Amino acid sequence: MSNAIATDPGVENSSSGLIPVFNPSTEEQIAEVPDADQAAVDAAVARARETFESGVWRKLPAARRAEVLFRAAEIVKQRTDELAGLESKDNGMNAVAAQQIIKVANEMLLYYAGWVGKIHGESSNVVSDGLLGHYESFHNFTQLEPVGVAGLIIPWNGPFFVAMLKAAPALAAGCSCVLKPAEETPLTALKLEEIFREAGLPDGVFNVITGYGETAGAALAAHPDVDKIAFTGSTEVGRLIVKAAAGNLKRLTLELGGKSPLIMFDDANLDKAIMNASLGLLAGSGQNCSCTSRIYVQRGIYDQVVEGIAAFAKMLPMGGSEDPDSVLGPLISEKQRQRVEGIVAEGVSRGAEIITGGQRMDRRGFFYEATIITNTQPDMRLIREEIFGPVGCIIPFDDEDEVLAAANDTEYGLAGAIWTENVGRAHRVANELRAGQVWVNCALGADPSMPICGHKQSGWGGERGKKGIEAYFNTKAVYVSL
Ligand code: NAI
Ligand code: MG
Repeated sequence: MSNAIATDPGVENSSSGLIPVFNPSTEEQIAEVPDADQAAVDAAVARARETFESGVWRKLPAARRAEVLFRAAEIVKQRTDELAGLESKDNGMNAVAAQQIIKVANEMLLYYAGWVGKIHGESSNVVSDGLLGHYESFHNFTQLEPVGVAGLIIPWNGPFFVAMLKAAPALAAGCSCVLKPAEETPLTALKLEEIFREAGLPDGVFNVITGYGETAGAALAAHPDVDKIAFTGSTEVGRLIVKAAAGNLKRLTLELGGKSPLIMFDDANLDKAIMNASLGLLAGSGQNCSCTSRIYVQRGIYDQVVEGIAAFAKMLPMGGSEDPDSVLGPLISEKQRQRVEGIVAEGVSRGAEIITGGQRMDRRGFFYEATIITNTQPDMRLIREEIFGPVGCIIPFDDEDEVLAAANDTEYGLAGAIWTENVGRAHRVANELRAGQVWVNCALGADPSMPICGHKQSGWGGERGKKGIEAYFNTKAVYVSL
């Protein structure tokens, strides 16, 4: 094993075997981590349960809990270079992208550290018809209580960020957690466990188990002593988690796939629109649940936009963790690259036209060229399925009603983008798009304060913002007779 990153399997993560971890940019093995089995999952859940019941975290004064989270944010900031280096090797993304992931993850932590102690119930004094026929006065109030042991299951795209997107609100709410990173990218999650410990989080409150989805993930989702699962990943696995959670009716937050439309009207600021449409499609090499991979362009500007986006796609430098000047990185695995190739091949066999890209890159690593496709049909996999690769389709349209029908003709509802200088039209189309977030004249906007709530089969519940922390509380109503 070359360039090994020592990861201590540790007693806490005891398991039956090891999982090799590769750098997708070089295909080199860089580490191995424990392959958690049922016993390892049980042990992690038991640790979380014990800390939850004992109250070592949830019953601390809010100021003390906030202090721990702010201290963790300080440590993340100090260790940014180390974390970014690891993230880059683990996921294959370039160093600049990895630095950005660590930075936005830390912003998420700071945001939720600020919520500790600032979220609480409501009260009201009411007079009701009493049971014995005379009026009765009450002082009633609601209180928010941490939901318990939260299982956090995350994917390989932006691993440290998605870990924090769940860990920060869960801990801010007072939950104890078991986090299972993707088998492809477990390394920065293990660091996160270390960072929280160093910041003073009591042992056992935040536990990371590394393992495969079908075994460790499934065991966590089905575990009778886990109260909630927060999951980001494929819609297919989202459905499996719903079934697994039925046993003890776990609370669920699901952030699933997307197939988001971008609608460009002929009055758009074209230079800006073309650049943003390209980046909104290709950021993370398309391995982004909110990427806008169906690009609808009004007929009068269609040829110009196809040419512009294709030129932009061709221009973006591709390279991986070793290449500081790259913009587009590799896909996460050979399996993922074959999936992308399969979707493109199905379209091409039925008449779709590749304007640029469509090939593997002739180098080591799981690279696939930025690919722009036209002449698609609405029932092609290219239009219906989340591709999770740097592949976008450009489709012409004539009027607003027609494009809205096409844009909404999907089982997903994660995001959408609109390009127009007409304010009324921007609002009208934003109202009609069936999606959890809409960008007007911008791409991939994201802020810790703004919730992302997938509509349709893109998910259940929401993350980020106040909604994101509310998802880790149960509400209790208390009636006090006066
Ligand atoms: P996946 O949904 O299988 O993996 C996501 C996480 O779920 C990983 O931690 C995995 O170990 C875990 N998992 C897998 N099976 C599980 C099970 N039965 N029970 C509990 N946890 C389980 O996604 P995968 O296979 O990596 O990628 C396949 C496709 O999923 C991609 O091509 C993409 O379309 C979509 N995807 C969407 C993501 C998003 O951000 N919405 C993220 C990752 C993948
Ligand atoms: Mg899978």
